[in-house]
Amino acid sequence: MDKTLVIFGASGDLTRRKLIPALYSLHCKGRLPKDTRIVGVSRRPYSSEEWRGMLSKTTGEFNAKDFDEVKWNEFEQSVHYIPGDATKGDDLVKLAESLKELDGESNERVYYLSTKPAIYAPIIENLGAAGLADQSIGKRRIVIEKPIGVNLDTAMRLNEKVHDVFHENNVFRIDHYLGKETVQNLLVLRFANSIFEPIWNRNYIDHVQITVAESVEIGSRAGYYDGSGILRDMFQNHLLQLMTIVAMEPPARYDPKLVRDEKVKVLRSVRPMIESEFSTSSVRGQYEGYLDEEGVPEGSQTATFAALKLDIDSWRWHGVPFYLRSGKAMSCRTTQIVIEFRKPPFALFSESDNGIIEGNRLVIQVQPAEGMQMYLQSKVPDAGMMVQETPLDFRFARHNTNKSMPDAYQRLLLDALNNDASLFARNDEVELAWQIIDPIINAWQGGSGPALKTYAKGDWGPEECTQWMRDQSRNWFDVCPVLS
Ligand code: BG6
Repeated sequence: MDKTLVIFGASGDLTRRKLIPALYSLHCKGRLPKDTRIVGVSRRPYSSEEWRGMLSKTTGEFNAKDFDEVKWNEFEQSVHYIPGDATKGDDLVKLAESLKELDGESNERVYYLSTKPAIYAPIIENLGAAGLADQSIGKRRIVIEKPIGVNLDTAMRLNEKVHDVFHENNVFRIDHYLGKETVQNLLVLRFANSIFEPIWNRNYIDHVQITVAESVEIGSRAGYYDGSGILRDMFQNHLLQLMTIVAMEPPARYDPKLVRDEKVKVLRSVRPMIESEFSTSSVRGQYEGYLDEEGVPEGSQTATFAALKLDIDSWRWHGVPFYLRSGKAMSCRTTQIVIEFRKPPFALFSESDNGIIEGNRLVIQVQPAEGMQMYLQSKVPDAGMMVQETPLDFRFARHNTNKSMPDAYQRLLLDALNNDASLFARNDEVELAWQIIDPIINAWQGGSGPALKTYAKGDWGPEECTQWMRDQSRNWFDVCPVLS
């Protein structure tokens, strides 16, 4: 069966930077399902030839290493452009006609919303009205980029709108973190190795840290970012997704529904913060100079950094805090998950090179370099029984020298085309994530959160955050990045 991928927002940045380069790479690897057509739709009056020409340049830029003129020429045969304003019903009726001419209608179609979120609802409504979501003609699916709403209420309204037109089984909500190889490897690490399962719980783990640090600032995105802030931009989606994968129970089978059921159970088990905890279980910060960024309103209180302490009320995790932290303008770009094991019950060897014997630590580095590090205590040679912390490194690149790590969009686009929703967020997942984040945002905005602290660019967030962790007798694992 031929497939047609229709990208709304074809002239936008995401299409140029991520979607087309990923599709082109899939083509080069021979993975793109046979006879897949790619149709771009946006208001710009390009012809297919013009759009192909532009994409060839940008893909050459973003896929510089593997760009090959011959392969591109093959690939671009399947690329088409149809101008139209998807927020206008008439334009989608015309689009329906053009698509019918192109793919004969009985094709499987995947509609990809790569537009501004504000126009998701009208596009979906128009797809329904133009008969473009009619499943009796052929399979129709929709892919939606984050953000799904700006709070629980708007997310629920958007989900309802989507369900008026598409059954949930045909809805693919992208969280590109789930497309990252190392994030998927977390599932493999946990559920394909028997050594971790017996210790992956409150009996052996003291706490978990999930850090997504970015060295970039907000750049030209003030218009979006100032209204969003770090909790909406990174926590409601990426950080909570990472947390669910670390914390979930093993699913009965690797099946989209069962995997997502387990993730949903984690979100349901997150203990809601009580009033006094909004200030004691969260830290918020803003990098120095944020107020001078172009487009940021005077005196903006938007946080560019946050740290949260979340508790999961389950048999596995009761009493094991999950610390989530993310920020812009931080010391480096690193996404790391730290599983901090309990210390030995008593100190047989009282000496260590820094005077403290730490618990074992497993660091899973999601990016930039993908790998893992296990910290063990070992003996310092020729120094009595002095012990030292020693890392065991595992780098994907070293073990897979003939393979490069694919961009997350390759995996996600392929899964959407092949109707595998395991790595996409379900409606209940998104809504539960908002249920966790909304009260914190409201508390921060309503004045019952912690004070907004500033931090210097290139730091690990405000100093108060370091102290906050120390007050809980713990330390952040601030290494930038552990593997390179
Ligand atoms: C996006 C956020 O979802 O993720 C950006 O909107 C952020 O603010 C980006 O920079 C981070 O993604 P990655 O893959 O570079 O870690």
